[in-house]
Amino acid sequence: MFRKYVNFVRGISVNRTGKAGVVLATSSFVAFIFFEILRLIGVLTSAFVGLVAYLLLPSLFVLGLLLILFAWKQHKAKTKKTVEQILCEQFKEDETEKGVFGSKAFISILIFSFVSVLFISVAGYRTLSFMEEPKFCGTACHNIMIPEWTTYQVSPHSRVKCVECHVGEGVEALVESKISGLRQMVLASLNAYSKPVPVPVHQLRPSRETCEKCHWPEKFYGSRLKVITRYGFDEFSTPKYNTLSLKIDTGHKTGKAGIHWHIASDNEVRYTSVNDLRRDIIEVEVKQKDGTFKKYVNKKLSESASKSDKENVRVMDCIDCHNRATHIYEDPSFAVDDRMARGLVDRKLPFIKREMVAAITANYPDRKTAFEDIEAHLQSFYMRNYRNVAISMQKSIEQAVETAKEIYGRNIHPYMNVEWGTYPNHIGHKQGKGCFRCHNENLVDENGKHIPFDCTMCHSILASDEDKAFKYLEKPAEKAPNTRMHQYLQDEFLKSTDK
Ligand code: HEC
Ligand code: HEC
Ligand code: HEC
Ligand code: HEC
Ligand code: HEC
Repeated sequence: MFRKYVNFVRGISVNRTGKAGVVLATSSFVAFIFFEILRLIGVLTSAFVGLVAYLLLPSLFVLGLLLILFAWKQHKAKTKKTVEQILCEQFKEDETEKGVFGSKAFISILIFSFVSVLFISVAGYRTLSFMEEPKFCGTACHNIMIPEWTTYQVSPHSRVKCVECHVGEGVEALVESKISGLRQMVLASLNAYSKPVPVPVHQLRPSRETCEKCHWPEKFYGSRLKVITRYGFDEFSTPKYNTLSLKIDTGHKTGKAGIHWHIASDNEVRYTSVNDLRRDIIEVEVKQKDGTFKKYVNKKLSESASKSDKENVRVMDCIDCHNRATHIYEDPSFAVDDRMARGLVDRKLPFIKREMVAAITANYPDRKTAFEDIEAHLQSFYMRNYRNVAISMQKSIEQAVETAKEIYGRNIHPYMNVEWGTYPNHIGHKQGKGCFRCHNENLVDENGKHIPFDCTMCHSILASDEDKAFKYLEKPAEKAPNTRMHQYLQDEFLKSTDK
């Protein structure tokens, strides 16, 4: 078998170029099989080695084949012989003798071509599917995607492939994404990319197409109750509750429009923003029942806006609110609240909320220093101020240190300049303006009426900064500090029962 191959190979390589081609094709073929076996038995896990195996080797194989063909052409031109004559020269007599299915050499070439085509298709398919693995997208370009990869893994969509949201369907989108990928690879190897990766991502696949595969608007109905616990900066890290009943309805059937009203089938909201960043909104248009559009304008921004900004109209979809559906970066204080609410931090440690936030928000040059200093910060705080606690609750302190490191590691990526607040979340109105980008008093229609922002339009408030999660279900105390907030709930339900 091996000898036959050597003979055959000797036959088809007519000159030096041909020989180089044969060596290249053979070695890349063998190397590919080798890598594939390593991957199958689980030895090969690095996406970067995968990148070499799947991108480089099949390309080298094809290059080898091309060299062989080129060598034949060269040889033919030089010797002015026909293909048949060259074949007779290159192969032994018994191989070029005509058989029932053609000569042996002819059959060998046929088999060789068939194997090559098969190999290229299989390898090509493997390469494409490998490149669709989240692990590849997340880690092949070394550090660039690590922030997104990190946040992705802990997100509700950690089982959804990157390409399902980022790459469109069909051959065109595939080719487009590969070309853009190639460009990014060049930029990455030249270290010529923006840090952090800029948003909004303009080439994101339309979210109505992607998100609605799994969540469709008819499914949004009723309300969603959310109890948010916030801990104070006092000695006891006292919990306070914000309880919201979020009105997530589209209002399509019920007529009681809620948050998803914007994307209900009959509705359309479109807008323009400064520098197309979707943060400072210049104009908003809303489709009316008769098909015309009602316009709200921010006069100040409109006067100073450039022509291209005004022409760059975007139709609102899921991403205008759920911009952090997957890559969820946290607010440092909210992140600590979240871990405390999940019982990962012992609240018996004095001032633990305040000190954790201080430790994770200090400026550090790199992650290693950050981890060391976070540990030093918390340990020395208790050593200096609460020696007894430092000794008796050492385990709790260590756990707080680990949790603080975890929060820092998830959210801060110094080499990509991803800091606190680099990627604000548009849901709500506490991390950046969020919904209030449009729902504010500056965007007005021709009668001077603004887009509404009543506190009970998007959610009922059952507690706002209160000691009990359902405080406002109780009767209001006459001189309670938050009676105005309390009144919202009373008004909402008293008024709605009037109707
Ligand atoms: C469920 C959908 C979804 C999945 C899955 C997903 N992304 Fe994203 N991605 C988004 C959205 C939405 C944005 C934000 C777009 C914006 O703000 O304009 C985004 C933004 C990004 C950005 C820009 C920087 C940033 O943080 O906003 C990068 C880079 C990125 N994604 C890479 C990835 C990688 C790598 C994976 C897989 C490991 C992945 N994405 C998986 C939806 C997704
Ligand atoms: C392949 C299916 C799939 C796709 C595509 C998908 N999601 Fe999801 N989504 C899920 C699953 C599964 C969950 C988790 C449900 C849970 O945790 O209860 C989820 C959860 C969510 C949640 C709730 C998160 C929470 O904390 O409660 C939101 C919001 C969401 N997705 C928005 C989006 C948006 C926006 C897109 C498009 C960019 C999208 N999804 C694309 C499957 C998908
Ligand atoms: C106007 C802003 C906005 C738009 C547009 C929007 N959403 Fe939402 N969505 C929200 C808010 C706010 C919530 C409630 C947030 C929470 O529960 O923390 C929510 C909740 C959800 C949930 C969780 C629902 C549940 O039952 O708990 C899913 C899933 C979701 N959205 C998907 C989508 C998809 C898919 C689209 C696009 C077709 C979309 N959203 C468009 C603002 C929006
Ligand atoms: C791009 C601009 C824009 C953003 C961002 C936006 N909205 Fe709206 N929203 C509108 C407009 C415009 C209307 C309709 C105003 C009108 O009645 O003319 C509206 C209406 C609503 C309504 C009332 C529907 C009704 O008819 O009762 C709710 C509820 C709502 N939005 C919630 C939200 C929430 C929650 C967010 C943030 C997660 C948000 N919106 C973000 C533009 C926006
Ligand atoms: C356009 C819709 C909208 C309007 C108007 C609105 N909110 Fe909200 N609010 C939201 C959404 C969405 C969230 C985020 C819920 C989440 O965390 O998922 C939120 C969150 C909150 C929270 C919880 C903050 C936290 O700790 O995370 C409070 C408190 C709150 N709103 C109070 C108010 C008050 C008071 C008003 C009136 C001035 C108001 N909201 C007006 C949509 C709105």
